[in-house]
Amino acid sequence: MTALALHGIGHAFLGRTVLDKVSLVIGQGDIVSLVGPSGCGKSTLAHIAARIIEAKEGRIACGYRRQAMIFQEPRLLPWATARDNIRYVLKLARVPKRDWSSRVDDVAARVALEPEDLEKYPVELSGGMKQRVAIARALTMEPDFIFFDEPFTALDVALKRRMQDLVIAACENETLSGLFITHDLMEAARLSDRIAVLDARGRGILGERPVPGKRGERDDAWLFGWVQRALSDDPLFADIHDVDERNIA
Ligand SMILES: Nc1ncnc2c1ncn2[C@@H]1O[C@H](COP(=O)(O)OP(=O)(O)O)[C@@H](O)[C@H]1O
Ligand SMILES: [Mg+2]
Repeated sequence: MTALALHGIGHAFLGRTVLDKVSLVIGQGDIVSLVGPSGCGKSTLAHIAARIIEAKEGRIACGYRRQAMIFQEPRLLPWATARDNIRYVLKLARVPKRDWSSRVDDVAARVALEPEDLEKYPVELSGGMKQRVAIARALTMEPDFIFFDEPFTALDVALKRRMQDLVIAACENETLSGLFITHDLMEAARLSDRIAVLDARGRGILGERPVPGKRGERDDAWLFGWVQRALSDDPLFADIHDVDERNIA
């Protein structure tokens, strides 16, 4: 079963080609990471795949029923508590009101949000807590496909790890599939079944590599070795850190 198939996707902004001939297939239950230098079109591709914007060329076939998206910034409503931020999507989805409380409590427990955190406003929550609320809000819709657009890039290393563990646990469900965009090859190797590299010069997906083993069961020493070898020996990963503005002093 295919969760998402992109065929020959092409896109341009103001006449400038950003994506050309991009094809990618994600099977049901698979998490595929998409890496590539900053500005190469990863977010644009995710927006096209999620049908937030329309591609100039290509075809999208999707086998999933319900999608959710998690962004780098939590994008919470500032005037609403964490609980109300999560409830808001249930309301939009016309979930019966009597189910809201239990749905929020269940999903909050899955992302380790305490009951008192749910009553706080975004301004009262730390970056990691806000991102948990954003993840909870995505999960509460019971999506069977999640687009992750560099969700943990702004978090410090320890927090990033906890969030990755949350994602691994949330995706244990065999029917949940996803596209995980990241700059961080270690993160990609930890979380996904396969890593696809998007070219910076609009030549599409340069290639894909399966990550051996099962996500959630790869230990750090192994991951570190795999990533180091990929970066030093595999030409596919040679350019993934190019033009990354974070490295420009
Ligand atoms: N709405 C837009 N209008 C014009 N140019 C855009 C728009 N969105 C993105 N771009 C440009 O398209 C290119 C790809 O952007 P993006 O998909 O955000 O890259 P990435 O997520 O890989 O960093 C960049 O050069 C960016 O400036
Ligand atoms: Mg982006």
